[in-house]
Amino acid sequence: MNKINSAIQSKPTLRLGLVFLAVLFTGPASRAADALRVMQENCMRCHGAEKRKGGLTMDTRAALLKGGDTGIVINLKKPSESLLLALLKSDADPHMPPKKQLTDAEIADIADWIKTGAKWDEDALKGLPATRELKWQPLPDTYQPVAGLAVSPDGKRLAVGRGMNLDLYDLGEKNPTNKTTLKAGRDVVQSIAWHPKGDFVVTGGFRRVAVWDAKSREKLKVLTAGFLGRITAMKFVNEGRHLVLGESVPTVLGRLIVIETEKWKTVKTFKAHTDAIYDLSLSRDGKFLCSSGADKLAHIWTVADWSKHGTLEGHTDYVMASDFNPGGDRIATVSSDSTVKVWEVGTQKQISTFSDSGSKLPIMGIHWTLNPAEEKPKKDADWIITVSEDSKPRLYTGLVLHDGGQRSTGAKMRAWSAGGDGSTTLAFSRAMKQVIAGDIHGGVTIWDINGKVLKLLQ
Ligand code: HEC
Repeated sequence: MNKINSAIQSKPTLRLGLVFLAVLFTGPASRAADALRVMQENCMRCHGAEKRKGGLTMDTRAALLKGGDTGIVINLKKPSESLLLALLKSDADPHMPPKKQLTDAEIADIADWIKTGAKWDEDALKGLPATRELKWQPLPDTYQPVAGLAVSPDGKRLAVGRGMNLDLYDLGEKNPTNKTTLKAGRDVVQSIAWHPKGDFVVTGGFRRVAVWDAKSREKLKVLTAGFLGRITAMKFVNEGRHLVLGESVPTVLGRLIVIETEKWKTVKTFKAHTDAIYDLSLSRDGKFLCSSGADKLAHIWTVADWSKHGTLEGHTDYVMASDFNPGGDRIATVSSDSTVKVWEVGTQKQISTFSDSGSKLPIMGIHWTLNPAEEKPKKDADWIITVSEDSKPRLYTGLVLHDGGQRSTGAKMRAWSAGGDGSTTLAFSRAMKQVIAGDIHGGVTIWDINGKVLKLLQ
């Protein structure tokens, strides 16, 4: 549920925070990535899978080690005697690449890479950032955004990702301002999810996920393997047997990573978006997962086999969040374009779009439920709550959806009183009848379902 970057983009004063979030990619171990990138750029078009000049292909480590027409070109035992290196020198004949001279630095990268075992790095070849060697810059103590909120399955406890910490609150307590603070990592917590049985809370950050015991509050596990970016959204699926991570490398890639939760091993990784993923939502029957992102798209995935069920296309800016209706046949998305759109899950047709005509602010979060004020709500008692950057929740009821001959679409809208400024994320507790929003300054506001502010947790 990471909306921080978007919030920062639209609030110039907050950009400072982003500077401190920057992670520098440096150090000798990224030489492998550098070497592979040099070869990708200068060698692959003649030594790839299609053209195999001199009988040499370089697109996999095995093929490169096998060598070309004259035999091996990389000598792992005597690296400096490698034919490949000899051909890069200015007086070599033949000279590689034939019509260009690599710089000394580029040649040194390749020589070092061979010396250290010619390790492969698929991600470097795909133009992705190096996966190792990071230098961290400390975050200022004052930078404490709430980027993730999760309510426990029984609705009584609240997990808050606040700055680098995980804060746990008891919503059932008379005074819920008491909290337990756990130190989650060295980067801002970007996302949170609560296991459906209530046992674990997981926090996602930069290239890591921490698994916490919700009772003992112990850190049970830290997952780091194979991550490229920030874990910006998370959702448990299959009754908690799997955890899906939304991983973001802004402007490059949004991947979904499926992890089984017994041994916490990755079972599937696939590209879902071409930019950051802001949210994951799950249909009430657990069959569909929706990912939404900065590429202005939302995709619906079939949980059983991870095939793509369809794409929701129509927002003109980041899709910040989504939620399925209680019946499971519809889904609503909210966007930085200030609109709420409702779609049919089956056909992915847009059936309604509405907005607060008085607000041009990005909408950061949404929850779709049936009127919580009614003991036995009717099937059409839709109750959609959204939260915008002005931290005023908007409640939409009386949805009119484009159906057959009926033309008009829309909903009745009521703006609630404002909570802490700069909302980033939204949660709902049916048991407590509370709407909860986190903000960029570290505040968490709790409203009752009539729109009255009950508490501001700092
Ligand atoms: C424009 C096409 C082209 C590019 C670009 C190119 N090569 Fe070559 N490469 C060739 C050709 C053609 C041969 C065969 C030369 C010969 O046998 O005279 C060859 C042969 C080789 C051989 C010897 C293979 C053998 O077993 O005989 C090596 C090693 C090699 N290239 C490495 C590289 C490296 C490393 C790069 C990038 C830095 C590179 N090449 C870029 C065309 C290219």
